[in-house]
Amino acid sequence: MRRGRRVDPYKVWLSEIMLQQTTVKAVIPFYEKFLARWPTVEALAAADLDDVLAAWAGLGYYSRARNLHKCAQAVVAEHSGRFPRTVAALSALPGIGPYTAAAIAAIAFGEPATPVDGNVERVVSRLFAVRHPLPGAKREIKRLAESLTPQRRAGDFAQAMMDLGATVCSPKRPSCLVCPLQQDCHAHALGIETQLPVKLDR
Ligand code: ADE
Repeated sequence: MRRGRRVDPYKVWLSEIMLQQTTVKAVIPFYEKFLARWPTVEALAAADLDDVLAAWAGLGYYSRARNLHKCAQAVVAEHSGRFPRTVAALSALPGIGPYTAAAIAAIAFGEPATPVDGNVERVVSRLFAVRHPLPGAKREIKRLAESLTPQRRAGDFAQAMMDLGATVCSPKRPSCLVCPLQQDCHAHALGIETQLPVKLDR
């Protein structure tokens, strides 16, 4: 698969784990601190778990930090210190679920994988005017997102979809006037963008 920019899979993985349940703004200082202290997956694997947990303090959800350390050790022990590039192999590592595996495969390796988080679900449900409620519509939305994913520059595509959802295609007041997808957006054509996605109370 073609790669546009070369990005360090370790950095992509570290940022994606930190960004689970935590905002970009809150993550940045922790991300920089971790990279300065443990610049490679080998360094992190060799760290004391207690030091990793102490450095994680403030990010919350400590199971993420335990899995982070476990995953670093698995990458070193089972993959010679190199992150695997497929969604299947990435998903087998501690702390890496389907979303994170797809994000790493696409962003770090240019694999045509499609990470679908809440922001991407919103963009896709509006673009195709998906009226089925979440969480039942998750499979359909994932399939639609995959149908848009290009073979080349899948990482840029994934990042663009996430950023569109995080900025322009906001939940309550989407900025449709400046949206690059406005012409293609079925929800916008129908005037129902703020009603989507429909979410069932659980
Ligand atoms: N949240 C989780 N992953 C992200 C990414 N790659 N870009 C922006 N926000 C994110």
